[in-house]
Amino acid sequence: MAETGTDTNLAAKLLSEGNLVAIPTETVYGLAANALNEKAVLRIFEVKERPFFDPLIVHVASLEEAEKYASINDTRLKKLAKHFWPGPLTLLLPKKENIHDVVTAGLKQVAVRVPNHPVTLKLLRSLDFPLAAPSANPFGYISPTQAEHVNKQLGHKIEYILDGGSSSVGLESTIVGIEDDKLCVYRLGGLAIEAIEQIAGAVELRLNNSSNPKAPGQLKNHYAPKKQLIIGKIDALLKKHSNKVAAIICFGKKQFDSDKKLIFNLSPSENIEEAALNLFKFLREADESAAQIVIAEFLPEDGLGKAINDRLSRAAAV
Ligand code: TXA
Ligand code: MG
Repeated sequence: MAETGTDTNLAAKLLSEGNLVAIPTETVYGLAANALNEKAVLRIFEVKERPFFDPLIVHVASLEEAEKYASINDTRLKKLAKHFWPGPLTLLLPKKENIHDVVTAGLKQVAVRVPNHPVTLKLLRSLDFPLAAPSANPFGYISPTQAEHVNKQLGHKIEYILDGGSSSVGLESTIVGIEDDKLCVYRLGGLAIEAIEQIAGAVELRLNNSSNPKAPGQLKNHYAPKKQLIIGKIDALLKKHSNKVAAIICFGKKQFDSDKKLIFNLSPSENIEEAALNLFKFLREADESAAQIVIAEFLPEDGLGKAINDRLSRAAAV
């Protein structure tokens, strides 16, 4: 198990010496290394067992800091950065020379974001380098929204976990860039499309589903629990799988004739933000429960509902 605490000075020291530290963000916990230290960045891939073709997000304390590592020339992206940073928005931007190819998987663009978490912002402000950080889970598994999630899966491989409590958004950042002069969303996430469109105009969804995706967070079977997850009408699925013990992931006022311990209601009051917050935690708990299968239903597609449904589909894909 890794040492866990709230000591940003210790985290800064470890990071500056080339070690890995898990950091809290409002979306999910990240597995951070000095983004300018190639060796440290390589360790991220090793620890996560992540393929090198999957580039990393660079985290900085402010828009000004971002401009040291990337060019923000497009007015729509600049508007979004000004409006939503710090926040659950990642921008794909032309990279500057100081960013190693290992961070971007050889791509000319680098993904950058300013996370909205007081502990991590304090840490970032104290550093003279940015932090490369993917979600702090083994590649392909559910992202962690608590220090304890990180410790369970990666604790034996990393030096320190900076504990910032539960993530307040619970879904990874929305990834936005420009392609063919169009504002494109490459990954649905914690910032709703509607909010982006209000500030910067229409967006095009370019969510990749192929096995060789542009953004590998888009791999069809990402965010996957170990147990089989089936999505559909819960009552019908319960009937169909009545020979198995099922965990249920649902939304809104629901009653099932089932073991209460195995019912994970994302938000009984139909609050979509609350559902986002609970999704990964409940997927983990269902995966660790005594159930043999997990049965879930899609949520309404408004706001964060789209991103939640995206993660559910990927978690269900085999
Ligand atoms: O909320 C988040 O974004 C969290 C927290 C820790 O910041 N991070 C996160 O990182 O979700 P990760 O590595 O699990 O997902 C990052 C996604 C990957 O799918 C990656 O392919 C895409 O961002 N990405 C990163 N750099 C890119 C680039 N240069 N071009 C295209 N996609 C990129
Ligand atoms: Mg991830």
